[in-house]
Amino acid sequence: MKHRNLVVISAGLSQPSSTRLLADQLSAAAAAAAGDLGIVLDTRVVELRDLAHEITNHLLTGFPAGALRDAQDAVAAADAVIAVSPVFSASYSGLFKSFFDVLDKDALAGKPVLLGATAGTARHSLALDHALRPLFTYFRATVVPTAVFAAADDWGGDSADGDLRTRIERAAAELAREIDHREPVTPADPFALTSSFEDLLNSNS
Ligand SMILES: Cc1cc2nc3c(=O)[nH]c(=O)nc-3n(C[C@H](O)[C@H](O)[C@H](O)COP(=O)(O)O)c2cc1C
Repeated sequence: MKHRNLVVISAGLSQPSSTRLLADQLSAAAAAAAGDLGIVLDTRVVELRDLAHEITNHLLTGFPAGALRDAQDAVAAADAVIAVSPVFSASYSGLFKSFFDVLDKDALAGKPVLLGATAGTARHSLALDHALRPLFTYFRATVVPTAVFAAADDWGGDSADGDLRTRIERAAAELAREIDHREPVTPADPFALTSSFEDLLNSNS
C-alpha cells in the first residue's frame, strides 16, 4: 500500500454544518476509492471557521499566524485537496474566498482538487462552475470533472441519498485516479540551500 496526503477544506459556518457533512462524505468516499487502488489516504480536515480571525489578520497584516500558517503548509504539501464551500449570495462564501486570497499562488499548481458546494436551493448549483472552478483555474489546479453540489433537499437523514451519493462516488473515484497517476508531493525544505555552498563562499569574497 502507498500513502498519500489528502487535505479537506470546509468553509461551513453552521454547527452542525452541512458543508462539513458533504466534506466528510467526500473524503470517506475518496478514501474508499483510493483504497481500491492500493492507496492509503492520510486525511486532515481544515475547518475555515476556526481560522476566520487569523485569515482576517493575514489580510490586514500580510502575515499568517500559527494555525493558519500550519493549514497553508498542509495544503501546499498535500497530494490532493477537497474544497467545499456553502453558497452565499449565489457564489462561494467570503471566508472560503479569503482563505484562498491568502494562499500562495503556487500552492495548488498541478494538484488534484475535488470541488463541492452546499446551498439552500438547487437553483444556485452553477456556483460551482461560474465561481469555484475559475478560482481553481487561477491556481492552476487539476480540478476533477465531477464537482458535487448538495442542496438541502439532497440530504436524506444525515447522509447523501440517491443522485447525490452517486455523484460523490463518481467524484471520489476521479480524485483517486488522479492521485494514483502522480508521484507523492515532497514538501519544500525551508532550510535547503538555494545555491551551492561554493557559490555562497564566492559571493562573499
Ligand atoms: C449569508 C447567507 C447567504 C446565503 N445565500 C444563499 C444563496 O445565495 N443560495 C442558496 O441556495 N443558499 C444560500 N444560503 C444557504 C446556505 O448556502 C446553506 O444553508 C448552506 O448549506 C449552509 O452551510 P453550513 O450548514 O455548512 O453553514 C445562504 C446562507 C447564508 C447564511
